[in-house]
Amino acid sequence: MKVIYCAGELGRVVLDILQRRRTDEDVVFADDDPELKGTSIDGRDVIGGVSELDRLDKAEAGVIVAFADRQTVRLELTDAVREMGFDLFSAVDADSSVATTATIGDGVILNAQAYVGPGATISEAVVIDSAASVSHDVTLEEGVTVGPNTTIAGGVTVGRDAFVGAGATVRDDVTIGTGAVVGAGAVVTSSVPPETTVVGVPASPIDE
Ligand SMILES: CC(C)(COP(=O)(O)OP(=O)(O)OC[C@H]1O[C@@H](n2cnc3c(N)ncnc32)[C@H](O)[C@@H]1OP(=O)(O)O)[C@@H](O)C(=O)NCCC(=O)NCCS
Repeated sequence: MKVIYCAGELGRVVLDILQRRRTDEDVVFADDDPELKGTSIDGRDVIGGVSELDRLDKAEAGVIVAFADRQTVRLELTDAVREMGFDLFSAVDADSSVATTATIGDGVILNAQAYVGPGATISEAVVIDSAASVSHDVTLEEGVTVGPNTTIAGGVTVGRDAFVGAGATVRDDVTIGTGAVVGAGAVVTSSVPPETTVVGVPASPIDE
């Protein structure tokens, strides 16, 4: 059995990735919203929240955390699931492309038409959205989110928990700091300090 933990938009993306692979494995959602318990989303049961999850047979069920909004929360939930004793699985779309020399960690979500180039390192609980291009030798640290249609050039490092918005371009060899945010459509031409939000072309820190 596969369990998608969080039944929001990212959870539905993961379900679609699994269904498009046409495996006949049982798939259910878990979600901590009590109103969702016992409902069905895109034809799959929501078993309930963390306590119901913990009751499942750890040897029989793999879990993926599909929490979209905040990368830190995704990492916390990932740790919690692992501490419960579950194996984490990754959801790699059949229509994505991963170089043979790239490495993909546990709990990674790779959506349709995403590309991961040679020598890239994709760490645990990273999300790479549709048609994003992650070039050769890029490192995406734990919990990074890369939005749809984003281009990350060769040799870039994106720090833990950082978020790169839809359609952004990051030039080669720069570093995006831990917890930084790159706005949609930005063109990043130089390194971004940790916990800093940048927008625009070329990208610069947002006025607080
Ligand atoms: C960068 C971002 C996180 C900032 O969000 P925020 O802190 O709520 O900022 P605000 O919307 O209050 O905007 C603050 C200012 O920055 C500007 N701004 C915000 N995002 C911008 C962007 N992507 N490009 C250029 N300017 C932007 C706003 O126009 C505003 O300018 P003003 O003060 O002159 O009016 C957000 O706008 C963004 O781009 N998110 C990415 C969304 C995305 O890609 N989602 C993918 C999901 S699949």
